[in-house]
Amino acid sequence: SRQWRGVIREYADRLDVTDATPVVTLGEGGTPLLPAPALSARTGAKVWVKFEGMNPTGSFKDRGMTMAVTKGVEAGAKAIICASTGNTSASAAAYAAHAGITAAVLVPEGKIAMGKLSQAIAHNGRLLQVRGNFDDCLEIARELADNYPVHLVNSVNNDRIEGQKTAAFEVVEVLREAPDFHIVPVGNAGNYTAYHRGYTEELQRGVTTKMPRMFGFQAAGSAPIVLGHVVKNPDTIASAIRIGNPASWELAIAARENSDGYFGAIDDARILEAQRILSSEVGIFVEPASAISVAGLLEQAEAGVIGQGATVVLTVTGHGLKDPQWALRTADGSDIQPESVAVDTAEIADVLGLAKA
Ligand code: F0G
Repeated sequence: SRQWRGVIREYADRLDVTDATPVVTLGEGGTPLLPAPALSARTGAKVWVKFEGMNPTGSFKDRGMTMAVTKGVEAGAKAIICASTGNTSASAAAYAAHAGITAAVLVPEGKIAMGKLSQAIAHNGRLLQVRGNFDDCLEIARELADNYPVHLVNSVNNDRIEGQKTAAFEVVEVLREAPDFHIVPVGNAGNYTAYHRGYTEELQRGVTTKMPRMFGFQAAGSAPIVLGHVVKNPDTIASAIRIGNPASWELAIAARENSDGYFGAIDDARILEAQRILSSEVGIFVEPASAISVAGLLEQAEAGVIGQGATVVLTVTGHGLKDPQWALRTADGSDIQPESVAVDTAEIADVLGLAKA
């Protein structure tokens, strides 16, 4: 057995790189595809979870960031820039640190999770909190990249999508076929687009025989693709996908049409319920935005769209430790207080309901 070399080296023949490309990697990709018996039991489908929280900075963004930063460095960039709801900024700062270049990150003030903010600062990112939302941040990042010497690493940069398509390759390697359905959370719809591209390439290579139906879910308060119009003031507790004007909107619509796919909206209560089901019944802790894949599965299985025996892959995009506060809240919003006990074995046994053997 050998060490996983990161997505660029593992898939060099399927990415736009040469032997001379200065690869910037933190060992991203190669994440587990885990069977989820509890979700299979609930739905009658064969459910697998692609656990992207296992990437080096805790989200799927690392797959795209290794490509975007590598190609940026190859082109001579000394600084990168991105807009972010948190995960992209954490990833950009980490890969820039590794490459010895500067990362400037624009985030919506007060709207990103503490873990992600901490990561960007820890990796010495130049983090600016913009008094606006993500869509404002992206517009400014694009203007800066157009007019100043900074390299844009948002998913409007095709290198990001290229890196992220490798997740579909990994799924196919494990299943030895494409799944019937693939479900992802949707913000900018870059990842939805990336999986579709990865599966398209596998089909063209003749490795698979079908295109999965691509199902994407947005938070109900931030569902522009579902509504068919820009949402001016997007709102949801799933801060990662609080996006009102998705950058990859048109590509995603094309991917949906090509794959007989679907875009749906899920309200925040359902998102948190799904997060709890995944953590307590499957043992996988994800941030709220990622849990929307689980909520979407449960909804579509109940509606009969995802049928008995169908093979379903859910991508869960970010680790629960990024934004852990939600685990400490009940469904009705009150705080969960861990029980306090004395240094007393008998008392603790009693509290735990243990009878003496
Ligand atoms: N899940 C998580 C955890 C995310 O951080 C994001 C996007 C998505 C899903 C949606 O992916 O945008 O490709 O549709 N986060 C971006 C960021 C916007 O700045 O970290 P998408």
